[in-house]
Amino acid sequence: MYKTLHTDLTDAIFTITINRPDKLNAINAQVMDELSEAVTEIYTNKEIRSAIITGAGPKAFVAGADISEFQGLTKEEGQALAAKGHDIFMRIASSPKPIAAAVNGFALGGGCELAMACHFRLCTTNARFGQPEVSLGLIPGYGGTQRLTQLIGRGRAIEIMLSGRMVEATEAHTMGLVNYIVVESNELLSKTRELLSIINEKAPLAVARIIECVNIAAGDGFKNGRADEWEADPFGGDARPDDNSSARSGGGAGTHGRAGGDAWESSGRINGFLREQQAFGECFGTEDMKEGAAAFLEKRKPVFKGK
Ligand code: COA
Repeated sequence: MYKTLHTDLTDAIFTITINRPDKLNAINAQVMDELSEAVTEIYTNKEIRSAIITGAGPKAFVAGADISEFQGLTKEEGQALAAKGHDIFMRIASSPKPIAAAVNGFALGGGCELAMACHFRLCTTNARFGQPEVSLGLIPGYGGTQRLTQLIGRGRAIEIMLSGRMVEATEAHTMGLVNYIVVESNELLSKTRELLSIINEKAPLAVARIIECVNIAAGDGFKNGRADEWEADPFGGDARPDDNSSARSGGGAGTHGRAGGDAWESSGRINGFLREQQAFGECFGTEDMKEGAAAFLEKRKPVFKGK
């Protein structure tokens, strides 16, 4: 049923493998749509207790959003793209069932953001993390400015995002970006499953509430999305959320998936996730961003002019 994902449900652990290895599992529109469906499955399938997100092939977890789809987008379309990614990644972060990232290589741009939206991360020794968008004349657009800062602190996050450099597995571990490094790469999934199996024995309702409260402590600052749906019967599997439902954007997050307006500055409080969506869109109005994306696709170095 999925064309760009492989999924497997064994022993209550749902594994989602992003499957475009020839493009280093870059997230195009189809991957994003299918990921959204797979996340809905996590929420609604009562057989699922926890999940793993990983990438196909030995080289990459996910090497970012698909840059070839950036060309020709307007500011508004860029902002809408970010809003969609934010919405799906926010549903991952606020899932009542734990979701682990098994990072098997490059986790760059949207790939690093996807790993950070998961509740915790394991990686192989060849994993490389980074937010290289600045090299394309862009900024992270799926929550990276917020979640990297939450996870590793402001000074490190700014340096990594401004330089666009890659962070190796051991440094990522030292920074707290990953929880465990698995030395034998073929053991990455089994180690991740081992950890989730321990959690699967715990009380699901308590697990869900720990995730919710930690997300608030980490600075998401609002009660997100699906809460109204899972509170009643999170493991009953009856509620099938409507992907366009405004109910998802409950509480103070009421507008986190919305593309327009100045919602990010409502009530005198700036919402970093919303401001990031808008700022990502703004970049699409610059010559530098057009040059950055073209240079990547033409396999040359970009020349930025600050315009
Ligand atoms: N979007 C679209 N295509 C991508 C991609 C992305 N984010 N990342 C990799 N690919 C494609 C490459 O264009 C190449 O396609 P081709 O074989 O048709 O030319 C294929 O995946 C393999 O990548 P390649 O660059 O040849 O591999 P490499 O080992 O030389 O370099 C990376 C690996 C990860 C360093 C490099 O692919 C890269 O920098 N990717 C982009 C990372 C990025 O900027 N992400 C943020 C996007 S917002």
